Amino acid sequence: RWATHGKPNKVNAHPHFDTHHTLAVVHNGIIENHDALRRDLKEKGAIFVSDTDTEVIAHLIADFYQGDLLKAVQQAVPLLKGAFAIALMHREHPDQIIAIAHETPLIVGIGQDETFISSDANAFSQYTKEVVYLNNDEIAVIKANKLDVYDVHNKPVAVERHRISETSGDIAKGHFETYTLKEIHEQPRSIHNALLSRTVEDYGTAFFDEIDFDHNELLAVKRILILACGTSWHAGYVASYLIEDMARIPVQVEISSEYRYKNPIVPPDTLVIAISQSGETADTIAAVKEIKAKAAKVLAICNVQGSTLTREADACIFLRAGPEIGVCSTKAFTSQVVVLALFSLMMARMRHMSKQEGQAFLEGLQTLPEKVQQVLDNSYLIEEIAKKYAHYQNFFFLGRRYMYPTSLEGALKLKEISYINANGYPAGEMKHGPIALINEDCPTVALCANKFTFEKLLSNLMEIKARNGKVIAIAEQDEKGLQNIADEIIWIPPTIDELAAIPSTIATQLLAYYIAKERGADIDQPRNLAKSVTVE
Ligand code: F6R
Repeated sequence: RWATHGKPNKVNAHPHFDTHHTLAVVHNGIIENHDALRRDLKEKGAIFVSDTDTEVIAHLIADFYQGDLLKAVQQAVPLLKGAFAIALMHREHPDQIIAIAHETPLIVGIGQDETFISSDANAFSQYTKEVVYLNNDEIAVIKANKLDVYDVHNKPVAVERHRISETSGDIAKGHFETYTLKEIHEQPRSIHNALLSRTVEDYGTAFFDEIDFDHNELLAVKRILILACGTSWHAGYVASYLIEDMARIPVQVEISSEYRYKNPIVPPDTLVIAISQSGETADTIAAVKEIKAKAAKVLAICNVQGSTLTREADACIFLRAGPEIGVCSTKAFTSQVVVLALFSLMMARMRHMSKQEGQAFLEGLQTLPEKVQQVLDNSYLIEEIAKKYAHYQNFFFLGRRYMYPTSLEGALKLKEISYINANGYPAGEMKHGPIALINEDCPTVALCANKFTFEKLLSNLMEIKARNGKVIAIAEQDEKGLQNIADEIIWIPPTIDELAAIPSTIATQLLAYYIAKERGADIDQPRNLAKSVTVE
C-alpha cells in the first residue's frame, strides 16, 4: 500500500470498513475533506480504526445505506472532495462490486465469466484484452458476467469496449530475477520498436503515422513547451537540447506539478509536448488541461494506449516499449529519448537541416540497439564496480550538455532503488556551492560522453580529485585523458553527442541496479513509490 494518510502498516491497509463491517472499500486517490467528514460521522456514532482518508468513504456510504447500495453510493459520492477511484462491496450484495472514479483512471476488464477493475490495465492484461474506460463520475455496477454503467444523473450509459494491444500481455519476468532487470535488458528491442517504420533513409528524415497535425501546422511552430514529471521530465530535458540544436526551435521544459499552478504565458504558435510513460500522471494531465484551456495544441508521448493523457491530447506518439512493470522507469526513458530524437529530426528536416545531416543522424539512431547491447554485455564489469561502491551513502552524478539531464536521471535511479542520497548536477555548477560536499566519502559518477565539453568536464573532475573524491567515469571507448583521474571507468561505445544519453543511461541503470541489489533493496517495488502517480 502506498500511504497518502497514516503510516503504511496493516491497520491502514485496504480494504477499509464501516463500523459494523457491512461494507468494504478500496480506494486510489485522496479525499481532501476527510477531516470534516470524519468529525461529522463520529458525531453520528461511527467508530474509526485507521488514520486513512479512505475509511471515511466506508462510513459515509454506510450512513446513507437503506437497502439500495447504488443509491447510497450516488448520495455519498458528491460529498467527497478530491481525486478518487473507489471499489466497494456490501455484505448484503455479495455478487457485485460498485466502482466509481472521479478525476482518476479506472478501467474495467471484461473476461469470460469474470470481470476486473484496476487503475492500470497491466494488472489484468494477462486475463483479458477487452476493456471499458470509465468516464469521469460514471458509476459501474459489476458482476461476474455483467457490467452496468450509470452517469452522474443515474442514467444508464452504453458502454464502449476497447481492445488493448497484444504486447500489453507481455508481463512475464522470464529468467530475470526482477522486472527491472528484464526491462533494462529489453532496451535493444524497445529502442528498435520505437524506430520501426518511422524513418525515411532516402530523405534523411522521420515521420509518425499517428500525428494528425498537418505539415503547415508543424512548420508554423515557433516555440515548444514540454511538460512531464520525474524520469519523463528528464527525457524532456534531453529533448530540449536536441530540438534546439537540431531544429533551432526554442524549448521550455517544465515540471508538471509546478506548471499546473502557474498562470502560464503561452505565446501563439506554441506546440506543447506532454511526456508520460503511464499516461495517468495526475500532475501532467492537470497541466495539459490547463494549457488546453489556453487553446494550445498538445502532442502526447506515451506508452499506454487508451490512457487518460492520450485521450486528452490532440495527437499522440506511442513508445511501443511494452508494459513497464518495475516501479522505476528504465526502458520507457530510452524510448522517450528515441521518439523525441525522431521528432527533432523531422522538425529539423522541415526547416534548414540538410539531407546528408539527416541521414547521418538516422545512422546514429539505427546503431543504438547494438550499442546498447554492448553496454548490457558488460553488465558483469558494472556489477563489480557496484559491489565496491554500494556502502557509500552519498553520490554526485555530473555531466554537461546532454550529460546534464542524463546525470539527473542516473541520480534519480540510484536514489529510488537503493535509497542512497544522490544528486545530479551540471558539472560547471559544482564550484558554486556543491563542491563543499566532496570528500573521500562522496563518490562522483562522471558522465563523460559529450565530446564538445569533455575537456571542461576533465577540469571539474580534477577539482574533485583534489578534494579526495572518488570518480567513477562513464566514458566512450576512444576517450583519452581519464586514466589518471578516474578511479573506475565504465567504457561505453561511442556515438554522436546528441544520442549519448542512451548508452550512458543504460550504464547508470545497471550501476544503480547492482548497488541496490548489493544493499538487499526491493528493486521492483521500492518503498514509498507507486508505478502510476494518479494523485497530486
Ligand atoms: C522514476 C519514475 C518516475 C516517473 C514519474 C512520471 O523512475 O518512474 O519519476 O517517471 O512518476 O511518470 P509517467 O512517465 O508515467 O508520467
